[in-house]
Amino acid sequence: MSNEPGREQWASRLGFILAAMGSAVGLGNVWRFSYVTGENGGAAFLLIYMAFIIIIGIPIIMAEFTIGRKAQSDAVGSFEKLAPGKPWKVAGLLGVAAAFLILSFYGVIAGWITYYFTNYLTGTLWSAPAEGYESFFISFITNPTKPFFWQFLFMALTVAIVFVGVKKGIERSNKILMPLLGVLLIVLSIYSLTLGGAQKGLAFLFTPDWTALTDPNIYLAALGQAFFSLSLGMGALITYGSYLSNQERLPGAAVSVAVLDTSFAIVAGLMIFPAVFALGMDPASGPGLVFMVMPDVFDSIGFGGIFGLLFFFLLAAAALSSSVSLLEVAVAYFIRKFSWSRQKASLIIGSIIFVIGIPSSLGQGVLSDIQIIGGRDILDSIDFIASNIFLPLGGLIIALFMGWGFKKADALRDSDFGETTLGHIWLFLIKFVAPIFIFLVFLSSIGLFN
Ligand code: PHE
Repeated sequence: MSNEPGREQWASRLGFILAAMGSAVGLGNVWRFSYVTGENGGAAFLLIYMAFIIIIGIPIIMAEFTIGRKAQSDAVGSFEKLAPGKPWKVAGLLGVAAAFLILSFYGVIAGWITYYFTNYLTGTLWSAPAEGYESFFISFITNPTKPFFWQFLFMALTVAIVFVGVKKGIERSNKILMPLLGVLLIVLSIYSLTLGGAQKGLAFLFTPDWTALTDPNIYLAALGQAFFSLSLGMGALITYGSYLSNQERLPGAAVSVAVLDTSFAIVAGLMIFPAVFALGMDPASGPGLVFMVMPDVFDSIGFGGIFGLLFFFLLAAAALSSSVSLLEVAVAYFIRKFSWSRQKASLIIGSIIFVIGIPSSLGQGVLSDIQIIGGRDILDSIDFIASNIFLPLGGLIIALFMGWGFKKADALRDSDFGETTLGHIWLFLIKFVAPIFIFLVFLSSIGLFN
């Protein structure tokens, strides 16, 4: 396939894999994983989540990488190039829409993280504020103006990186900061297990309450979490795959991304849940869980402020390499479609997304009466639509495209599987298993099955 003018290419094999990992590992693994797992009863949810990663997630990561590398274009353009005039590109358009929606609230939460980081930097949170950590959090997020500043700052950083180009922007920093975050999470989870809530925390995470499986909601939640955490179903991995030359072996890369991403989530769970029980908190406390639990944990360590500082700094960095990949999906599309410069596209789109995020921020306070989907506030509703509906729907179309829109031999060759057993298993998963399961989860959640 010919290259479009002005497209980047990763500098090395490592560059691509690090970028894909950087996209996957982010707030999804710590902030979202912990509260969604907490709300959905723990172990049974975790089991479904992991099953979905294996039978749906990994096969679709492979499909996105394969499509992107072959087409060398953005999320929409890749479909136009490989299947001109066919309707498959709706997957890409859905993806671009999902990028706008997800980044809009991702910027809000990442802003909160950045605010916490600065509060550890100045020492404010080294010991509990007079009103306690929980009230501190609530009064911050319900404040009508303060969170904007941090959301703005974080979005400005994201725009700055996409402005200079993802390659220059992120290939290097992921190499150091992501492993550091991994180490820190492991250390903190070991510590958390000593706080007295280990037994309950471990049981919550690993001993399934099988009756939970009768609740159709957990399937949709697990599917959405799997797609969100893997950066899947919206062409982020197509876009990153398109900056790839032919030397990468895709199956190895896909599995590494999934294994790394899932490990981060599980370690984060081991860090949070024992602490939740030790502190006598409710695991189903919602999106504020990390913000309300972790400061107490740091407080209980001598000089724990250092850990708080590192934790929020490294999490903000991880969020940045994810937000960059979200913005890149939209920017890459607009650059090609409207022949905008990268600079113009990142500034304009970044600003629009910032503005779209404002109601999510206000929805915590002044607009908290507004509930859109089933008692969810604005932020949760946008998250629900984008992560639980758009991403799996995009993934479904991508799976069908790869499984049915490609000739078998082409799919096997372009994915680097070749005529191997694994390759045939992959094709089976992508043709039948992944689409059917996604479809069933959608069906069951509109209540047709109960
Ligand atoms: N996977 C990222 C995270 O876990 C979020 C993300 C979703 C990034 C979709 C890109 C696309 O934080």
